[in-house]
Amino acid sequence: MWPRGGYPLEALEVSMDSEAKITPILIITCVLVATAGLMFGYDVGNSGGVTSMDDFLEKFFPSVFRRKLMYDNNNGSAYCLFNSQTLQVFTSSLYLAGIIATFFASHTTRHLGRKLTMVVAGFFFISGVVLGAAAQNLGMLFTGRIFLGCGVGFANQAVPLFLSEVAPAKIRGGLNILFQLNVTVGILFANLVNYGAAKIHPWGWRLSLGSAGIPAFLLTIGALLVDDTPTSLIERGRIEEGKAVLKKLCGTDNIESELKEIMEATRVAQQVKRPFRELLQRHNRPPLVFAIFLQIFQQLTGINAIMFYSPVLFISLGLGNDASLYSAVISGSVNVLSTLVSIYSVDRVGRRLLLLEAGVQMFISLVMITVVLHWNVIDNSGDPSQGTALFVIVMICTYIASFAWSWGPLGWLIPSETFQLETRSAGQSVTVCVNLLFTFSIAQASLSMLCHLQYGIFAFFAGWVVVMTVFVYFFLPETENVPIEEISEKVWKKHWFWKRFIDDDRIPKTSVTSA
Ligand code: BGC
Repeated sequence: MWPRGGYPLEALEVSMDSEAKITPILIITCVLVATAGLMFGYDVGNSGGVTSMDDFLEKFFPSVFRRKLMYDNNNGSAYCLFNSQTLQVFTSSLYLAGIIATFFASHTTRHLGRKLTMVVAGFFFISGVVLGAAAQNLGMLFTGRIFLGCGVGFANQAVPLFLSEVAPAKIRGGLNILFQLNVTVGILFANLVNYGAAKIHPWGWRLSLGSAGIPAFLLTIGALLVDDTPTSLIERGRIEEGKAVLKKLCGTDNIESELKEIMEATRVAQQVKRPFRELLQRHNRPPLVFAIFLQIFQQLTGINAIMFYSPVLFISLGLGNDASLYSAVISGSVNVLSTLVSIYSVDRVGRRLLLLEAGVQMFISLVMITVVLHWNVIDNSGDPSQGTALFVIVMICTYIASFAWSWGPLGWLIPSETFQLETRSAGQSVTVCVNLLFTFSIAQASLSMLCHLQYGIFAFFAGWVVVMTVFVYFFLPETENVPIEEISEKVWKKHWFWKRFIDDDRIPKTSVTSA
């Protein structure tokens, strides 16, 4: 009994006479589409490694390269080595382009379908990879980044929607985290490629940027091969095609109950004329606040200061080039393994416990790093000693582990399970936009912060971890195992703070605006 209409369907009755199965074609479809997560992760993990490569710096950022040469000859402080606005734009421009593309993507997803939007994303990715890998000057390099960002904007809008529309309800939560797992695998893959490519002179950086072509190609082929979702086809009036795809995915000709659900979901979705206005209604305040704040806090854990710049950060902590890239591989592996912990425990121990435990663990790790770097027995150049650097790497790994089983997946999962039927899609756009906006800000600010605050950057993020953990403790209710249609009754109405936003006479299932 699996509803397959995607986001609106949790609120609908599910027939017991469904014969739908989890078919090989369904699994292949999900695996192909989820490669978008690999691509997103590759982009996150790639830039830090590339910007630590001498050949790349010499060609595109000669002033940073000169500073690094001086440092290699034992002159100057490591903390400011990579402090360059343009270098940071290299990383951050991708996310800025992603934000802008998201607005177009929400239009194409609705009117042209999920499949075509993913194909568009794939072509943006491939063009971005080619431009980056073949770059002769900064113009080509940055245009490539912008294309990649457009790919991210289109893919991150269409893919989660696609997956939730074809996935049986009972594996939908797992699929959500599977996407995050793919992101972490993409980051690790990038770390590994960087490690190998850094040894190839003078064009290793081209290999590093070019290897993004693998996930880009997989996503494009995948998007071309899969059928659009039945919901998307039916929404656009292609009913017979929608039915045929539904039969294929379900592995049976008896699709009556699924079809009924999709038709009903489509009818309800079409009644919502202004989902963003509906989102601003008072009764939608709780999920909206969480969509925004969970994403802001997720980025203020400082995770991407580490994910983007870990090789650069490790060099700044006194490690050599090779050891820095090697350490990034270790922290990337911790990220993947700890995400598996999350998949296992999220429906057993609940969201709150994971977030609260992680808050404590992240705080301790970040404070230890700050204290150790503060008391560090400095070497001749005034930089941290090797022993200190190793201790810091261990602490960074405990920090990443706790992020990966908490804020990483839950920052995405919780908004996806708290928005009501009529605002689910608009809510997803808000979530993606806030994420990209704050990812952009962290990408643009981290290296300057490292230069000005030095090890204080870790204390800065530790402070935010306290704020977000207190926020979770007081404001985040447990949503584990609560069906979406009961969230108002069972969650918001019972919460000491959020209950004031829910009127007693309001029945969420029927709150469709036609304004
Ligand atoms: C975040 C990304 C981050 C990744 C690290 C995701 O949940 O949204 O910004 O790079 O986790 O694994």
